[in-house]
Amino acid sequence: MDISTYLSESKKLVDEYLMKLLPAEGMEPPTIHKAMRYSVFAGGKRVRPILVLASGESLNGDREVLLSLGAAIEMMHTYSLIHDDLPALDNDDLRRGVPTCHKVFGEAMAILAGDALLTRCYEVLADLPRLSDTTRLSIIRDIAAATGTINGMIGGQVVDLESEGKPVNPRILEYLHSSKTGALLKACVRCGALAAGADERALNALTEFGSKIGLVFQIVDDILDITSSSEILGKTAGKDEKAKKATYPAFYGLEASRNKANDLVALALEDIRDFGEEAEILRSLARFIVSRTA
Ligand code: IPE
Ligand code: IPE
Ligand code: MG
Ligand code: MG
Ligand code: MG
Repeated sequence: MDISTYLSESKKLVDEYLMKLLPAEGMEPPTIHKAMRYSVFAGGKRVRPILVLASGESLNGDREVLLSLGAAIEMMHTYSLIHDDLPALDNDDLRRGVPTCHKVFGEAMAILAGDALLTRCYEVLADLPRLSDTTRLSIIRDIAAATGTINGMIGGQVVDLESEGKPVNPRILEYLHSSKTGALLKACVRCGALAAGADERALNALTEFGSKIGLVFQIVDDILDITSSSEILGKTAGKDEKAKKATYPAFYGLEASRNKANDLVALALEDIRDFGEEAEILRSLARFIVSRTA
């Protein structure tokens, strides 16, 4: 199967699971459920759940488990976007091609919608079917750590905000990108593998792979902020320079950033060179992450 077909078919499946796993709009109190669904279904590439699926399927994991797990992680990711866009953080008006959650529902409701998606994520994880309690706990722990303060998403967001307008060095830049974005993508690859019952060797290889493509994802996000448009991205382009964000292109330049991203993907593919045919989709996803245009 070619990667664009895999992406569009998987996206449809992920959306079905999200539709089923999120509270209906009419549930009391409706405002919050509308706000949650508004941001989740505004659009989005669903890269994280698709990574969960591809990683798990490379080890013959159960689709239903992987899709529920991926949907939960997409809730976590959408929470991070809603909060990232708030006036107190990046102050963005456009997300996934539509006005941001706080623009439509107000800041208070956007904060709560983010909190609610975060909470619902863990509820779905706790209910994951057909896994041993040990595996389910490992997954929950992994996702909590990946989005926490120590080498995780929140730690990265803190350093992102504190680095605005300040000189950074390569070490800080890599920490920032690997933490705010890379850690969750790495967790997607790892948790897909855990749900599929990966042995230690496979898990270690996939962890290395996930760590590299996670960093690449944010380097490419920085590049696209400069080279693409708001129409194509569905979010305001050119904002990193205005906000004096610490980005790869700001530090290394566009060309060197592209080279770094390509080199990292080549190394990531080496990490899973021993995997067979079943990992072909995962390999294609790594190439997609570096060559994507939106
Ligand atoms: C945007 O993530 C935020 C980053 C962590 C770079 P995506 O580019 O995956 O956004 P959606 O989910 O497709 O909207
Ligand atoms: C966001 O990074 C990372 C998150 C944890 C949400 P950015 O601030 O670069 O993401 P965009 O460009 O707004 O999507
Ligand atoms: Mg940000
Ligand atoms: Mg932002
Ligand atoms: Mg960005």
